[in-house]
Amino acid sequence: MKQNLRVVLASRPQGWVSEDNFRIEEAPLPRPGPGEVLVKNLWLSLDPYMRGRMSDAKSYVKGVELGEVMVGQTVGEVLESRHPKLEEGDKVLTQLGWQQYGTTSEATKLDQKRAPLSCYLGVLGMPGMTAYFGLKEIGQPKAGETVVVSAASGAVGSVVGQLAKLGGCRAVGIAGGRQKCDYVTRELGFDACLDYKAANLREALRHACPGGVDVYFDNVGGEIFDTLLAEMNLHSRVVVCGLISDYNASEARGIRNWRAVLVKRIRLQGMIVLDWKDRYGEALKALSGYFAEGRLKYRESTVEGLENAPRGLIALLKGENFGKQLVKLA
Ligand SMILES: NC(=O)c1ccc[n+]([C@@H]2O[C@H](COP(=O)([O-])OP(=O)(O)OC[C@H]3O[C@@H](n4cnc5c(N)ncnc54)[C@H](OP(=O)(O)O)[C@@H]3O)[C@@H](O)[C@H]2O)c1
Repeated sequence: MKQNLRVVLASRPQGWVSEDNFRIEEAPLPRPGPGEVLVKNLWLSLDPYMRGRMSDAKSYVKGVELGEVMVGQTVGEVLESRHPKLEEGDKVLTQLGWQQYGTTSEATKLDQKRAPLSCYLGVLGMPGMTAYFGLKEIGQPKAGETVVVSAASGAVGSVVGQLAKLGGCRAVGIAGGRQKCDYVTRELGFDACLDYKAANLREALRHACPGGVDVYFDNVGGEIFDTLLAEMNLHSRVVVCGLISDYNASEARGIRNWRAVLVKRIRLQGMIVLDWKDRYGEALKALSGYFAEGRLKYRESTVEGLENAPRGLIALLKGENFGKQLVKLA
């Protein structure tokens, strides 16, 4: 009889995640109940938020329990259906986590003609929606303004800068390394990209943003966030989207440039994409429109096989990914 393979949380990391924090298990293949589908997962999304779910610290969503399957979004194929609207062979977006098979009643049918299936985990998925709502609703850039985004070659950042350009803004990225920066300017069409590992970021920002910064879309927190605060314009906006530089730190880095928030009347707002779940259809329509016109580019980093998912997550948290991090399961 066919078995299911799954990755469970074995222990909670203290500091950096290690492969020992996970355990691979075999389990019987689940059977779909009434209203459910049995899905074979084809792609698993790896995302920075998973580091938070490995911890039991209080957050906006409960963490994974020890021994529980690691949380994650998946794209898969329906093998058996007891769901009124889905049939065998349908491709679906689900939340089945780090396993090869799963059953669920909550699956969204995907249109494979619109885009390759993996895109529904990246540019047309949760990261794309994060970029869309964070920029539009919190950043509120106007044509001619300067938008800066960190982790610019990644899943969220790459979409933020391209949307800023489509809206008539100057888009400036921040990324780690020459190769990523070249991709951001040459392939994604940003006006500039600053390598924070090589340059004095403050000087590089002043050079790339001669009129100052109107919107900063922060994906990383820490020192980069602090440096940006000092370069923000009067009545500028900061979208606090992610703090990846802190996710493995035992203590959060303090901020020195708070004075700028007061003096420049900066509007800082945190965002969680789930707050816009009632409007995901709007974002999908807009993003897939640009995608169909070839105006939204993307890049993926793939590891093969469920057993390599822990390694893929560790690489993502260290910035070794180059584009949306995925696990190819089948
Ligand atoms: N609020 C929400 O609803 C929401 C939703 C999705 C994602 N997010 C957040 O958005 C951020 C980006 O997520 P993503 O999925 O698009 O990941 P990603 O950008 O594809 O990958 C993460 C990137 O973070 C950068 N990074 C890692 N450590 C860093 C450090 N110490 N300092 C500066 N940069 C570092 C690396 O890029 P470099 O090599 O360029 O440094 C790495 O490639 C994350 O913080 C994530 O938690 C938030």
